[in-house]
Amino acid sequence: MTSATSADPHDVPPSGLPALTFHNPLSEERAARIVARLAAARPASVLDVGCGWAELLRLLEAVPSAHGTGIDLRGEDLARAGRQARDRGLDGRVRLYEESARGTGRGPADVVLCGGSGQALADPEAPDYLPRLFAELRRLVNPGGRVLLGEGFFTRTPGAGELARLWPGATAGDHPSLGALVDAVVAGGFRPLWTETASASEREEFESGYRAAGEEWLALHPDHPEAAALRTRLDGQRAIWLDGHLGLLGIAWLTLVPVGRVG
Ligand SMILES: C[S@@+](CC[C@H](N)C(=O)[O-])C[C@H]1O[C@@H](n2cnc3c(N)ncnc32)[C@H](O)[C@@H]1O
Repeated sequence: MTSATSADPHDVPPSGLPALTFHNPLSEERAARIVARLAAARPASVLDVGCGWAELLRLLEAVPSAHGTGIDLRGEDLARAGRQARDRGLDGRVRLYEESARGTGRGPADVVLCGGSGQALADPEAPDYLPRLFAELRRLVNPGGRVLLGEGFFTRTPGAGELARLWPGATAGDHPSLGALVDAVVAGGFRPLWTETASASEREEFESGYRAAGEEWLALHPDHPEAAALRTRLDGQRAIWLDGHLGLLGIAWLTLVPVGRVG
């Protein structure tokens, strides 16, 4: 084991999130159930908006005739998605685009994946965020298709003291309740085929994994010139989690069917 407690200008903080498989609170077990549910609809096309590492395009393994498209703003994340597709032998069936998904013309598709990436389709700051998000999802999914949406919700209405411990500028309107979120699904022209929420364990895996590589590096490089900024960032993120949204912010995984006759 090596230790580096003095500054080493060639050893920079880690980039990416190597401890995570999904860029979301999502276990392998839940992902397998979701993939099986989506595969049962026999999609020919899958569109992953705000795909990041496009890990859920593993759906193509379960549907060998299907093709997938991933869209994300971050080239670094798409590079990881491309490596993963190659390792799975899917690269011939996956196309990845480094661009915004806002107003995208790359649909419609039989399955639309939007895991924690509603901001890729609509402005979360806008008062009509959810209606706009569901209008976009309706536009992008084929009749008889499926949408997988991962979206945040508040487990209770946060008071002023709780809001002060969340992200800067947090308001009680930043997320709906779970009931209001699913009501918006229905108002947006979908039926909720499956409603589930990330468990405490999935959230802990995600929050810990999000910072694990940085924490390990920081422990070994406490005097590095970049350590102070990283320490401030990690300590701030941890406080927002443990003193702020723990038990307050949930993640819903919603499998949705667009309403309307097929054919
Ligand atoms: C929380 S990550 C989720 C990634 C992926 N869906 C998953 O489940 O692992 C949100 C992603 O949305 C992407 N994103 C944000 N705004 C976007 C936009 N306008 N167009 C495309 N992607 C966007 C981010 O770059 C990021 O990769």
